Amino acid sequence: LKTVVVTGATSGIGFAVCAELLESGCRVIGIGRSEENCRAAREKLLSVNPKYDMTFLWGDLMQQSEVLRVAGEIRGELECSSGGALYALVNNAGCVRSWYMTTGEGYEQQFALNHLAGFLLTHELLKNLMRGGGRILFTSSGSHKMMKMNWKDLMFEKRYRPLYAYKQSKLCNMLTAFELSDRYSGRGIRAYGIDPGLVRTEIGCKNTGKLVDFVWKQRKRHGVDPSVPAKVYAGLITGDTQADGLYYGIGGLTKHSGEVNKQNAVRLFGVSEKLCKIKFGVSDECLS
Ligand SMILES: NC(=O)c1ccc[n+]([C@@H]2O[C@H](COP(=O)([O-])OP(=O)(O)OC[C@H]3O[C@@H](n4cnc5c(N)ncnc54)[C@H](OP(=O)(O)O)[C@@H]3O)[C@@H](O)[C@H]2O)c1
Repeated sequence: LKTVVVTGATSGIGFAVCAELLESGCRVIGIGRSEENCRAAREKLLSVNPKYDMTFLWGDLMQQSEVLRVAGEIRGELECSSGGALYALVNNAGCVRSWYMTTGEGYEQQFALNHLAGFLLTHELLKNLMRGGGRILFTSSGSHKMMKMNWKDLMFEKRYRPLYAYKQSKLCNMLTAFELSDRYSGRGIRAYGIDPGLVRTEIGCKNTGKLVDFVWKQRKRHGVDPSVPAKVYAGLITGDTQADGLYYGIGGLTKHSGEVNKQNAVRLFGVSEKLCKIKFGVSDECLS
């Protein structure tokens, strides 16, 4: 049985990815923000087939302390069910913000959730992934192409530009996937960034204020159902061999921005390691 961890599993794209994976016979550990939403999502998934192997864990992934706690719980689950092996990790939880808002730990919220949470969770589960299938997926976005890293002010503290902060977080997803594949391919790890396209979800209506809420409600009408991109995730995860390439859209392998390069990737890794107080091992180091 392939065990897959999916963050942001209670709604939208993450929920649809869980549904696809369960239907193809995977065991899924979904991560959500609140117990209430996790219970509701679990009920909805099991109403399709009560035999699905679906577990939910919850925590506020904007907080690094919570990422570490949830990661510990995931490792505990994996020890009991699969000898510690994790087949795939889907870093998908994300948010949109209209104002400069920080987490309890002081980090800008889009950067903290859309980038740092997945970065840290991957670090915490890397050994498990090396023992399992080694596939790591990040929900990026086509919007990463319209952005350069704002190295001088990564969290836009001096002048907050909400859309830039969002796009940069999606560029960070691409850079993280790039560097993980580059460093750890010899250890069976392969990471991808996914562009799900415009998808009909509630992301623009959660804690974003009246204007963004209104604009998103109009815009999302043109989007596809979350089950459309979910098939791309399921294909990459359940395929017999690890697919080549880095960036996938709903039409398959596609072209990413030129900003996704080794220099930016290494720099982002260094900065993010400091912010998360962790250090990824080098590829030939014994990590177990
Ligand atoms: N929709 C699009 O058109 C589109 C396009 C490109 C990329 N994306 C990306 O797709 C990903 C999923 O978004 P979506 O559109 O499917 O929206 P969504 O339905 O709002 O999904 C976001 C998920 O993340 C969870 N989440 C939010 N804050 C969290 C926190 N602090 N801790 C833990 N989990 C948290 C949400 O839980 P709650 O509901 O309980 O808050 C939900 O399960 C995001 O990374 C987004 O950037 C979306």
